[in-house]
Amino acid sequence: MRTYLVTGGAGFIGSNYIHYMFKKYDNEIRIINVDALTYAGNLENLKDIEDRDNYTFVKANICDRDAINKIFEENDIDRVVHFAAESHVDRSIVNPEIFVQTNVLGTATMLNAAKKAWELPDGTFKEGKKFLHVSTDEVYGSLDDDPTAFFYETTPYSPHSPYSASKASSDMLVKAYMDTYKFPANITNCSNNYGPYQFPEKLIPLIINNALAGKTLPVYGDGKNVRDWLYVEDHAKAIDMVQEKGRLFETYNVGGHNEKQNIEIVKTIIDVLKDELDDSDPRKANLSYDLIKYVEDRKGHDRRYAIAPDKIKSEIGWEPETMFKEGIRKTIKWYFDHMDWMANVTSGDYEKYYEKMYKNK
Ligand code: NAD
Ligand code: DAU
Repeated sequence: MRTYLVTGGAGFIGSNYIHYMFKKYDNEIRIINVDALTYAGNLENLKDIEDRDNYTFVKANICDRDAINKIFEENDIDRVVHFAAESHVDRSIVNPEIFVQTNVLGTATMLNAAKKAWELPDGTFKEGKKFLHVSTDEVYGSLDDDPTAFFYETTPYSPHSPYSASKASSDMLVKAYMDTYKFPANITNCSNNYGPYQFPEKLIPLIINNALAGKTLPVYGDGKNVRDWLYVEDHAKAIDMVQEKGRLFETYNVGGHNEKQNIEIVKTIIDVLKDELDDSDPRKANLSYDLIKYVEDRKGHDRRYAIAPDKIKSEIGWEPETMFKEGIRKTIKWYFDHMDWMANVTSGDYEKYYEKMYKNK
Protein backbone atom coordinates (compact mmCIF):
# COMPACT_ATOMS: atom_id res chain seq x y z
CA MET A 1 0.00 0.00 0.00
CA ARG A 2 1.40 3.39 -1.03
CA THR A 3 1.71 5.96 1.76
CA TYR A 4 1.20 9.65 0.95
CA LEU A 5 2.35 12.53 3.08
CA VAL A 6 0.15 15.49 2.15
CA THR A 7 1.05 18.90 3.55
CA GLY A 8 -1.66 21.57 3.88
CA GLY A 9 -4.42 19.00 3.45
CA ALA A 10 -6.86 20.99 5.58
CA GLY A 11 -6.82 23.89 3.13
CA PHE A 12 -8.81 24.43 -0.04
CA ILE A 13 -6.94 22.43 -2.68
CA GLY A 14 -5.36 19.99 -0.22
CA SER A 15 -8.73 18.88 1.16
CA ASN A 16 -10.21 18.53 -2.33
CA TYR A 17 -7.15 16.48 -3.32
CA ILE A 18 -7.58 14.14 -0.33
CA HIS A 19 -11.25 13.63 -1.21
CA TYR A 20 -10.30 12.96 -4.83
CA MET A 21 -7.61 10.44 -3.86
CA PHE A 22 -9.88 8.43 -1.54
CA LYS A 23 -12.59 8.46 -4.17
CA LYS A 24 -10.13 7.13 -6.73
CA TYR A 25 -7.97 4.73 -4.69
CA ASP A 26 -10.21 4.00 -1.67
CA ASN A 27 -8.30 1.51 0.54
CA GLU A 28 -5.36 1.05 -1.83
CA ILE A 29 -3.52 4.04 -0.34
CA ARG A 30 -2.82 5.59 3.04
CA ILE A 31 -2.75 9.34 3.57
CA ILE A 32 -1.03 11.26 6.36
CA ASN A 33 -2.12 14.88 6.35
CA VAL A 34 0.19 17.35 8.09
CA ASP A 35 -1.22 20.81 8.60
CA ALA A 36 -0.58 23.62 11.09
CA LEU A 37 -4.25 24.68 10.95
CA THR A 38 -3.64 28.36 10.29
CA TYR A 39 -6.67 30.58 9.63
CA ALA A 40 -6.90 28.82 6.21
CA GLY A 41 -6.85 25.26 7.53
CA ASN A 42 -10.15 23.73 8.53
CA LEU A 43 -10.68 20.13 9.64
CA GLU A 44 -14.38 20.50 8.86
CA ASN A 45 -13.30 20.17 5.19
CA LEU A 46 -12.34 16.56 5.94
CA LYS A 47 -15.17 15.53 8.25
CA ASP A 48 -16.48 12.78 6.00
CA ILE A 49 -13.13 11.00 5.70
CA GLU A 50 -11.60 11.59 9.15
CA ASP A 51 -12.67 8.19 10.53
CA ARG A 52 -11.06 6.14 7.78
CA ASP A 53 -8.44 3.64 9.01
CA ASN A 54 -6.16 4.66 6.16
CA TYR A 55 -6.17 8.40 7.06
CA THR A 56 -4.16 10.16 9.78
CA PHE A 57 -4.04 13.83 10.67
CA VAL A 58 -0.93 15.34 12.28
CA LYS A 59 -1.07 18.93 13.50
CA ALA A 60 2.39 20.33 12.83
CA ASN A 61 4.15 23.24 11.21
CA ILE A 62 6.17 22.39 8.10
CA CYS A 63 8.95 24.62 9.47
CA ASP A 64 9.25 22.35 12.52
CA ARG A 65 12.16 20.14 11.47
CA ASP A 66 11.84 17.66 14.36
CA ALA A 67 8.12 17.15 13.84
CA ILE A 68 8.53 16.58 10.09
CA ASN A 69 11.55 14.26 10.49
CA LYS A 70 9.57 12.25 13.06
CA ILE A 71 6.77 11.63 10.53
CA PHE A 72 9.32 10.27 8.04
CA GLU A 73 11.02 8.16 10.73
CA GLU A 74 7.77 6.59 11.89
CA ASN A 75 6.28 5.99 8.44
CA ASP A 76 7.61 4.63 5.17
CA ILE A 77 6.48 7.56 3.02
CA ASP A 78 6.28 6.85 -0.73
CA ARG A 79 4.83 10.11 -2.00
CA VAL A 80 4.98 13.67 -0.72
CA VAL A 81 2.41 16.11 -2.11
CA HIS A 82 3.35 19.53 -0.81
CA PHE A 83 0.48 22.04 -0.73
CA ALA A 84 1.11 23.82 2.59
CA ALA A 85 1.69 27.51 2.02
CA GLU A 86 0.50 30.98 2.78
CA SER A 87 -1.61 31.45 -0.32
CA HIS A 88 -3.30 34.86 -0.42
CA VAL A 89 -1.67 37.65 -2.44
CA ASP A 90 -3.37 40.51 -0.53
CA ARG A 91 -2.10 39.18 2.80
CA SER A 92 1.42 38.91 1.37
CA ILE A 93 1.33 42.60 0.48
CA VAL A 94 0.53 43.50 4.10
CA ASN A 95 2.73 40.91 5.82
CA PRO A 96 5.38 39.35 3.55
CA GLU A 97 7.52 37.76 6.26
CA ILE A 98 5.29 34.79 7.07
CA PHE A 99 5.23 33.99 3.33
CA VAL A 100 9.00 33.66 3.32
CA GLN A 101 8.93 31.55 6.46
CA THR A 102 6.23 29.11 5.41
CA ASN A 103 6.69 28.99 1.66
CA VAL A 104 10.49 29.10 1.46
CA LEU A 105 11.78 27.76 4.77
CA GLY A 106 8.88 25.31 5.10
CA THR A 107 9.61 23.89 1.65
CA ALA A 108 13.31 23.62 2.56
CA THR A 109 12.35 21.66 5.68
CA MET A 110 10.14 19.30 3.66
CA LEU A 111 12.87 18.73 1.06
CA ASN A 112 15.52 18.06 3.70
CA ALA A 113 13.33 15.63 5.61
CA ALA A 114 12.40 13.69 2.45
CA LYS A 115 16.01 13.62 1.27
CA LYS A 116 17.20 12.36 4.66
CA ALA A 117 14.59 9.60 4.69
CA TRP A 118 14.94 8.52 1.07
CA GLU A 119 18.67 8.86 0.32
CA LEU A 120 20.80 5.70 0.12
CA PRO A 121 24.46 5.54 1.24
CA ASP A 122 25.63 5.87 -2.40
CA GLY A 123 23.71 9.15 -2.85
CA THR A 124 20.94 7.67 -4.99
CA PHE A 125 17.34 7.49 -3.76
CA LYS A 126 15.17 4.56 -2.72
CA GLU A 127 13.17 3.15 -5.63
CA GLY A 128 9.79 4.71 -6.34
CA LYS A 129 9.89 7.64 -3.90
CA LYS A 130 8.48 10.90 -5.27
CA PHE A 131 7.97 14.49 -4.10
CA LEU A 132 5.48 16.78 -5.83
CA HIS A 133 5.72 20.51 -5.19
CA VAL A 134 2.42 22.28 -5.85
CA SER A 135 3.08 25.72 -7.25
CA THR A 136 1.43 28.53 -9.12
CA ASP A 137 1.37 30.27 -12.50
CA GLU A 138 2.02 33.56 -10.66
CA VAL A 139 5.77 32.78 -10.69
CA TYR A 140 5.78 33.69 -14.40
CA GLY A 141 4.62 37.25 -13.73
CA SER A 142 2.01 38.97 -15.82
CA LEU A 143 0.87 38.83 -19.45
CA ASP A 144 -0.56 41.75 -21.36
CA ASP A 145 -3.89 41.59 -23.17
CA ASP A 146 -2.43 39.89 -26.30
CA PRO A 147 -4.65 36.76 -26.46
CA THR A 148 -1.94 34.73 -28.21
CA ALA A 149 0.52 35.04 -25.29
CA PHE A 150 0.63 32.21 -22.73
CA PHE A 151 2.77 30.92 -19.88
CA TYR A 152 4.83 27.89 -20.92
CA GLU A 153 7.13 25.78 -18.73
CA THR A 154 10.00 27.63 -20.44
CA THR A 155 8.67 31.12 -19.63
CA PRO A 156 11.23 32.90 -17.42
CA TYR A 157 10.22 33.50 -13.82
CA SER A 158 9.22 37.08 -13.05
CA PRO A 159 7.21 37.14 -9.80
CA HIS A 160 5.78 40.45 -8.61
CA SER A 161 4.00 39.99 -5.29
CA PRO A 162 5.68 38.78 -2.09
CA TYR A 163 3.46 35.68 -2.41
CA SER A 164 4.62 34.83 -5.92
CA ALA A 165 8.24 35.70 -5.06
CA SER A 166 8.09 33.24 -2.15
CA LYS A 167 6.55 30.54 -4.37
CA ALA A 168 9.18 31.20 -7.05
CA SER A 169 11.90 30.81 -4.39
CA SER A 170 10.39 27.53 -3.24
CA ASP A 171 10.28 26.29 -6.86
CA MET A 172 13.95 27.21 -7.23
CA LEU A 173 14.82 25.20 -4.12
CA VAL A 174 13.04 22.15 -5.52
CA LYS A 175 14.87 22.64 -8.84
CA ALA A 176 18.17 22.93 -6.95
CA TYR A 177 17.51 19.62 -5.15
CA MET A 178 16.69 17.94 -8.45
CA ASP A 179 19.79 19.36 -10.18
CA THR A 180 22.22 18.83 -7.31
CA TYR A 181 21.10 15.54 -5.77
CA LYS A 182 18.86 14.09 -8.50
CA PHE A 183 16.17 14.31 -5.85
CA PRO A 184 13.04 12.59 -7.28
CA ALA A 185 10.58 15.45 -7.66
CA ASN A 186 8.16 17.27 -9.93
CA ILE A 187 6.75 20.78 -9.89
CA THR A 188 3.29 21.73 -11.08
CA ASN A 189 2.42 25.37 -11.80
CA CYS A 190 -1.32 25.80 -11.82
CA SER A 191 -3.71 28.63 -12.60
CA ASN A 192 -6.54 29.92 -10.37
CA ASN A 193 -8.64 27.18 -8.78
CA TYR A 194 -12.28 27.41 -7.78
CA GLY A 195 -14.66 24.99 -6.08
CA PRO A 196 -15.85 23.87 -2.62
CA TYR A 197 -13.97 24.66 0.62
CA GLN A 198 -12.18 27.80 -0.63
CA PHE A 199 -11.63 30.40 2.08
CA PRO A 200 -13.73 33.52 1.39
CA GLU A 201 -10.76 35.86 1.14
CA LYS A 202 -10.40 34.70 -2.50
CA LEU A 203 -12.52 36.31 -5.21
CA ILE A 204 -15.19 33.67 -5.92
CA PRO A 205 -16.26 32.65 -2.39
CA LEU A 206 -15.92 36.25 -1.18
CA ILE A 207 -18.30 37.48 -3.86
CA ILE A 208 -20.76 34.63 -3.21
CA ASN A 209 -20.73 35.35 0.52
CA ASN A 210 -21.13 39.12 0.10
CA ALA A 211 -23.84 38.76 -2.52
CA LEU A 212 -25.91 36.48 -0.27
CA ALA A 213 -25.47 38.97 2.58
CA GLY A 214 -26.51 41.90 0.36
CA LYS A 215 -23.07 43.50 0.85
CA THR A 216 -21.13 45.42 -1.80
CA LEU A 217 -19.00 43.38 -4.19
CA PRO A 218 -15.48 44.84 -4.27
CA VAL A 219 -13.85 44.75 -7.71
CA TYR A 220 -10.23 45.88 -7.84
CA GLY A 221 -9.21 48.51 -10.40
CA ASP A 222 -11.09 48.38 -13.70
CA GLY A 223 -12.23 44.77 -13.20
CA LYS A 224 -10.56 43.74 -16.44
CA ASN A 225 -7.71 41.71 -14.96
CA VAL A 226 -7.81 38.21 -16.35
CA ARG A 227 -7.42 34.90 -14.51
CA ASP A 228 -7.48 31.39 -16.00
CA TRP A 229 -9.96 29.42 -13.85
CA LEU A 230 -9.75 25.68 -13.23
CA TYR A 231 -12.18 23.51 -11.26
CA VAL A 232 -10.29 22.23 -8.22
CA GLU A 233 -11.02 18.54 -8.83
CA ASP A 234 -9.34 18.83 -12.23
CA HIS A 235 -6.26 20.18 -10.46
CA ALA A 236 -6.33 17.25 -8.01
CA LYS A 237 -6.48 14.84 -10.94
CA ALA A 238 -3.59 16.59 -12.68
CA ILE A 239 -1.41 16.30 -9.58
CA ASP A 240 -2.09 12.58 -9.31
CA MET A 241 -1.45 12.04 -13.03
CA VAL A 242 1.82 14.00 -12.96
CA GLN A 243 3.04 11.97 -10.01
CA GLU A 244 2.12 8.64 -11.59
CA LYS A 245 2.73 9.27 -15.29
CA GLY A 246 4.96 12.34 -15.51
CA ARG A 247 8.68 12.27 -16.15
CA LEU A 248 10.66 12.85 -12.96
CA PHE A 249 12.47 16.21 -12.63
CA GLU A 250 9.99 17.88 -14.99
CA THR A 251 7.72 20.87 -14.46
CA TYR A 252 4.13 20.72 -15.76
CA ASN A 253 1.85 23.70 -16.22
CA VAL A 254 -1.78 23.05 -15.31
CA GLY A 255 -4.58 25.27 -16.57
CA GLY A 256 -7.99 25.24 -18.10
CA HIS A 257 -7.78 27.53 -21.16
CA ASN A 258 -10.55 29.35 -19.37
CA GLU A 259 -9.70 33.04 -19.22
CA LYS A 260 -12.19 35.41 -17.66
CA GLN A 261 -12.09 39.05 -16.65
CA ASN A 262 -12.85 39.53 -12.96
CA ILE A 263 -15.94 41.60 -13.71
CA GLU A 264 -17.33 38.76 -15.81
CA ILE A 265 -16.88 36.37 -12.87
CA VAL A 266 -18.68 38.73 -10.50
CA LYS A 267 -21.59 39.22 -12.90
CA THR A 268 -21.85 35.47 -13.51
CA ILE A 269 -22.10 34.84 -9.77
CA ILE A 270 -24.93 37.37 -9.47
CA ASP A 271 -26.75 35.82 -12.45
CA VAL A 272 -26.43 32.24 -11.18
CA LEU A 273 -27.47 33.17 -7.65
CA LYS A 274 -30.55 34.92 -8.96
CA ASP A 275 -31.36 31.81 -10.91
CA GLU A 276 -30.89 29.50 -7.92
CA LEU A 277 -32.73 31.53 -5.27
CA ASP A 278 -36.49 31.14 -4.88
CA ASP A 279 -38.56 34.23 -5.64
CA SER A 280 -39.76 34.16 -2.03
CA ASP A 281 -36.17 34.31 -0.69
CA PRO A 282 -35.53 37.84 0.68
CA ARG A 283 -31.87 37.61 -0.42
CA LYS A 284 -33.01 37.62 -4.04
CA ALA A 285 -34.58 41.08 -3.85
CA ASN A 286 -31.21 42.70 -3.06
CA LEU A 287 -29.25 40.92 -5.76
CA SER A 288 -28.25 43.11 -8.68
CA TYR A 289 -25.24 44.48 -10.52
CA ASP A 290 -25.73 47.63 -8.39
CA LEU A 291 -23.91 45.81 -5.58
CA ILE A 292 -20.70 45.94 -7.65
CA LYS A 293 -18.25 48.53 -6.35
CA TYR A 294 -15.04 49.35 -8.19
CA VAL A 295 -12.45 49.86 -5.45
CA GLU A 296 -8.79 50.85 -5.20
CA ASP A 297 -6.60 48.46 -7.18
CA ARG A 298 -4.37 45.80 -5.61
CA LYS A 299 -0.76 47.06 -5.41
CA GLY A 300 1.30 45.60 -8.28
CA HIS A 301 -1.82 43.84 -9.61
CA ASP A 302 -0.84 41.32 -12.32
CA ARG A 303 -2.91 41.99 -15.43
CA ARG A 304 -3.40 38.59 -16.97
CA TYR A 305 -2.53 34.96 -16.32
CA ALA A 306 -3.01 32.29 -19.00
CA ILE A 307 -1.51 28.82 -18.95
CA ALA A 308 -0.56 26.78 -22.00
CA PRO A 309 -1.29 23.24 -20.79
CA ASP A 310 0.17 21.64 -23.96
CA LYS A 311 2.89 19.63 -22.23
CA ILE A 312 0.67 17.96 -19.64
CA LYS A 313 -1.85 17.17 -22.36
CA SER A 314 0.59 15.69 -24.87
CA GLU A 315 2.84 13.81 -22.40
CA ILE A 316 0.33 12.68 -19.81
CA GLY A 317 -3.07 12.99 -21.42
CA TRP A 318 -4.50 15.32 -18.79
CA GLU A 319 -7.23 17.74 -19.81
CA PRO A 320 -9.73 19.69 -17.70
CA GLU A 321 -13.06 17.89 -17.51
CA THR A 322 -15.31 20.43 -15.83
CA MET A 323 -16.40 23.23 -18.11
CA PHE A 324 -16.65 26.62 -16.40
CA LYS A 325 -20.38 26.97 -16.96
CA GLU A 326 -21.02 23.72 -15.10
CA GLY A 327 -18.22 24.21 -12.52
CA ILE A 328 -19.27 27.67 -11.41
CA ARG A 329 -22.89 26.58 -10.97
CA LYS A 330 -21.78 23.52 -8.98
CA THR A 331 -19.52 25.72 -6.85
CA ILE A 332 -22.17 28.35 -6.14
CA LYS A 333 -24.65 25.63 -5.24
CA TRP A 334 -22.11 24.08 -2.89
CA TYR A 335 -21.66 27.33 -0.93
CA PHE A 336 -25.36 27.87 -1.03
CA ASP A 337 -25.95 24.39 0.47
CA HIS A 338 -23.16 24.86 3.04
CA MET A 339 -24.00 28.19 4.58
CA ASP A 340 -23.09 26.68 7.97
CA TRP A 341 -19.55 26.07 6.66
CA MET A 342 -19.41 29.68 5.47
CA ALA A 343 -20.79 30.97 8.77
CA ASN A 344 -18.14 29.01 10.70
CA VAL A 345 -15.18 30.23 8.65
CA THR A 346 -16.38 33.83 8.65
CA SER A 347 -16.90 33.97 12.40
CA GLY A 348 -14.05 35.15 14.62
CA ASP A 349 -11.09 36.78 12.91
CA TYR A 350 -12.61 36.99 9.42
CA GLU A 351 -14.62 40.09 10.26
CA LYS A 352 -11.49 41.86 11.52
CA TYR A 353 -9.63 40.80 8.37
CA TYR A 354 -12.40 42.10 6.13
CA GLU A 355 -12.61 45.45 7.92
CA LYS A 356 -8.85 45.93 7.76
CA MET A 357 -8.39 44.93 4.11
CA TYR A 358 -11.44 46.69 2.70
CA LYS A 359 -11.70 49.74 5.00
CA ASN A 360 -10.59 52.21 2.32
CA LYS A 361 -12.39 50.38 -0.44
P1 NAD B 1 -5.04 27.47 1.43
O1 NAD B 1 -4.57 28.77 2.00
O2 NAD B 1 -6.49 27.23 1.28
O3 NAD B 1 -4.48 26.27 2.32
C1 NAD B 1 -3.18 26.26 2.84
C2 NAD B 1 -3.11 25.16 3.90
O4 NAD B 1 -1.75 25.12 4.37
C3 NAD B 1 -4.00 25.43 5.12
O5 NAD B 1 -4.65 24.24 5.51
C4 NAD B 1 -3.02 25.88 6.19
O6 NAD B 1 -3.43 25.57 7.51
C5 NAD B 1 -1.77 25.10 5.79
N1 NAD B 1 -0.54 25.76 6.26
C6 NAD B 1 -0.20 27.07 6.14
N2 NAD B 1 0.99 27.30 6.72
C7 NAD B 1 1.41 26.10 7.21
C8 NAD B 1 2.57 25.68 7.90
N3 NAD B 1 3.54 26.55 8.23
N4 NAD B 1 2.69 24.38 8.24
C9 NAD B 1 1.71 23.48 7.94
N5 NAD B 1 0.58 23.82 7.29
C10 NAD B 1 0.44 25.12 6.94
O7 NAD B 1 -4.26 27.31 0.06
P2 NAD B 1 -4.74 26.64 -1.31
O8 NAD B 1 -5.44 27.65 -2.11
O9 NAD B 1 -5.36 25.34 -1.00
O10 NAD B 1 -3.31 26.39 -1.99
C11 NAD B 1 -2.58 25.19 -1.76
C12 NAD B 1 -1.29 25.23 -2.56
O11 NAD B 1 -1.59 25.35 -3.95
C13 NAD B 1 -0.37 26.41 -2.22
O12 NAD B 1 0.94 25.95 -2.24
C14 NAD B 1 -0.63 27.41 -3.34
O13 NAD B 1 0.51 28.19 -3.57
C15 NAD B 1 -0.91 26.48 -4.50
N6 NAD B 1 -1.79 27.01 -5.55
C16 NAD B 1 -2.99 27.55 -5.26
C17 NAD B 1 -3.84 27.98 -6.28
C18 NAD B 1 -5.21 28.55 -5.99
O14 NAD B 1 -5.88 29.01 -6.93
N7 NAD B 1 -5.69 28.56 -4.78
C19 NAD B 1 -3.43 27.86 -7.61
C20 NAD B 1 -2.16 27.31 -7.89
C21 NAD B 1 -1.37 26.87 -6.85
O1 DAU C 1 -3.00 32.01 -10.23
C1 DAU C 1 -2.94 31.14 -9.14
C2 DAU C 1 -3.15 31.90 -7.86
O2 DAU C 1 -4.53 32.24 -7.81
C3 DAU C 1 -2.73 31.13 -6.61
O3 DAU C 1 -1.36 30.89 -6.66
C4 DAU C 1 -3.10 31.91 -5.35
O4 DAU C 1 -2.80 31.13 -4.19
C5 DAU C 1 -4.57 32.21 -5.38
O5 DAU C 1 -4.92 33.00 -4.26
C6 DAU C 1 -4.95 32.96 -6.66
O6 DAU C 1 -4.39 34.28 -6.68
P1 DAU C 1 -5.21 35.55 -7.22
O7 DAU C 1 -4.63 36.77 -6.62
O8 DAU C 1 -5.35 35.49 -8.69
O9 DAU C 1 -6.66 35.21 -6.58
P2 DAU C 1 -7.73 36.12 -5.82
O10 DAU C 1 -8.95 35.27 -5.66
O11 DAU C 1 -7.18 36.79 -4.62
O12 DAU C 1 -8.05 37.24 -6.91
C7 DAU C 1 -8.53 36.89 -8.21
C8 DAU C 1 -8.68 38.21 -8.98
O13 DAU C 1 -9.76 38.97 -8.43
C9 DAU C 1 -7.45 39.11 -8.91
O14 DAU C 1 -7.28 39.76 -10.16
C10 DAU C 1 -7.82 40.14 -7.83
C11 DAU C 1 -9.33 40.25 -7.97
N1 DAU C 1 -10.06 40.55 -6.70
C12 DAU C 1 -9.82 39.77 -5.62
C13 DAU C 1 -10.50 39.99 -4.43
C14 DAU C 1 -10.21 39.15 -3.21
C15 DAU C 1 -11.02 41.56 -6.68
O15 DAU C 1 -11.26 42.25 -7.68
N2 DAU C 1 -11.69 41.77 -5.51
C16 DAU C 1 -11.46 41.05 -4.38
O16 DAU C 1 -12.09 41.35 -3.31
